[in-house]
Amino acid sequence: MPKRILITSALPYINGIKHLGNLVGSMLPADVYARFERARGNEVAFICATDEHGTPAELAALKEDQSVEDYCARQHDVQAQAGEKFGLSFDYFGRSSNPTNHELTQHFANVLEANGLIEERVDRQVYAVDDARFLPDRYVEGTCPHCDYEKARGDQCDNCGRLLDPVDLKDPYSAVSGSRNIEVRETRHLYLLQSKLQERVESWVENQTTWPLLTRSIALKWMKEGLRDRSITRDLKWGIPVSVDGNDRPGFENKVFYVWFDAPIAYIASTKDWAVASGGDWESWWRTDKGAEDVSYVQFMGKDNVAFHAVSFPCTLIGSEEPWKTVDTLKSLNWLTWYGGKFSTSEGRGIFMDQALEILPADYWRWYLMANAPESDDTSFTLETFAATINKDLADVLGNFVNRITRFCKSKFGEEVPAGGEPGPIEKKLYADLDQRITAYTEFLEKMEFRKACAELRAIWSAGNEYLQEAAPWAVFKEDPAKAAVSVRTGLNLIRLFGVLSAPIVPFTAEKLLAIFGETQTAWPAASASTLLTALPAGQEFTLPDVLFSKIEEEQVTQWKERFGAP
Ligand code: 2FM
Ligand code: ZN
Repeated sequence: MPKRILITSALPYINGIKHLGNLVGSMLPADVYARFERARGNEVAFICATDEHGTPAELAALKEDQSVEDYCARQHDVQAQAGEKFGLSFDYFGRSSNPTNHELTQHFANVLEANGLIEERVDRQVYAVDDARFLPDRYVEGTCPHCDYEKARGDQCDNCGRLLDPVDLKDPYSAVSGSRNIEVRETRHLYLLQSKLQERVESWVENQTTWPLLTRSIALKWMKEGLRDRSITRDLKWGIPVSVDGNDRPGFENKVFYVWFDAPIAYIASTKDWAVASGGDWESWWRTDKGAEDVSYVQFMGKDNVAFHAVSFPCTLIGSEEPWKTVDTLKSLNWLTWYGGKFSTSEGRGIFMDQALEILPADYWRWYLMANAPESDDTSFTLETFAATINKDLADVLGNFVNRITRFCKSKFGEEVPAGGEPGPIEKKLYADLDQRITAYTEFLEKMEFRKACAELRAIWSAGNEYLQEAAPWAVFKEDPAKAAVSVRTGLNLIRLFGVLSAPIVPFTAEKLLAIFGETQTAWPAASASTLLTALPAGQEFTLPDVLFSKIEEEQVTQWKERFGAP
């Protein structure tokens, strides 16, 4: 029976194309997992969207002198295209600003209120007199009260990393106009009474025994500190209105929901948009009364997002008292750093997805990022280690193997799988080795331990090279052509098997490997290596591939370091 697997990646903020750190933090590992589960014959819904509300979107639009609606529409397309070029196989890439998300977000707010979980409270907030507006979150900047950094943002200090309350900034000024004519004024907001949900959410977290350690410890730490009520509205124009026709809430005409309230709801809304666009059904993925009880739901995200997914979003879902599907496995990743420092969208530091593809094809990046995924700790990206990894793993090990065996076969047997001979002890040793490794590789992918999975895949490629070295068909060809035929046939079968196994991680390369034999898609191997490595029959034609990977030269590294401002 195929399983039904719902996969969401944290939604990338709309403000500009994402850097490699964002990519490996959620979208890329989610894609690898989605591809793997599809190959195993499972039914997958892989959903993502742009996260379009909040102050970063408005500020970025302002900077580019565009209306926020136009800015978001353009940036959505830019991100969708970059994702596609990177091979991110979303079933749907939606937008958190879509009408469906408006409806659902308002629906949740209404039911939470009906359940006694929402309260109006008066807050003190920074107000810019000259701009005639409140300045929530990043709209206000100033000096950090903890470390005296002069360009701290209202919600967080980039220097010391502390979360801030805008009213605590010293020497505040408006990020919109630069005006220092700032006051603190009172304003009403909606609070979600998370404190009332403590018991229910805590017992739900305690039941999540399959969460990875990192996730579980972050969630339990929050539980121990006690859930605090949180404000779910903001004084902004761009966002999902609180007060809508027919449901007027006096005093909330100029307010919208806080971006972190509506963004996770967009997972559901985007699934719904996908179902409408494809004629499918969304409730069987999200409503436990409509079939979602047997869905396995996996979320991918960077570690800074864990609290929102392990605590805040569950508060919304559980507090609604409606039968919503909650997450089963929450895979969180640490940071990828740019030479030990921060990748930064606002400061343009690091390599961004579009720039990466200008210099090399997607699979070079996909391989490096997944093989070095920041799973157990932060990981530093450097162009030097990137080049060394590509040259060794992709060019020397995988590329060279494919090149050698196909060219040798062509020169001695022609462009078809050679006949003759029977597998002997060296082949049997290879089968045994691969049986073990394929099982381990599959298990690592299943557990979403991507670094280990990549190490295993690398070892599988290497096993091919070692086999060829030992079998040495070029040395035995003259005396024993049948023996040479067996090893060439096994070698060609290995290429096909590498295509199948590598597809989740380097899909474009996998496509090329399979195309050598005129194949497009193959299922995840269920058989043992002895069957897998005799799958291509003698006489089967093949096409000589172009060189798969070119090595990265030292000069290129020097050039790129300069271009991307590497230290
Ligand atoms: O941290 C981020 O990049 C956020 N845009 C993630 C949002 S995930 C969600 F819940 F929608
Ligand atoms: Zn600080």
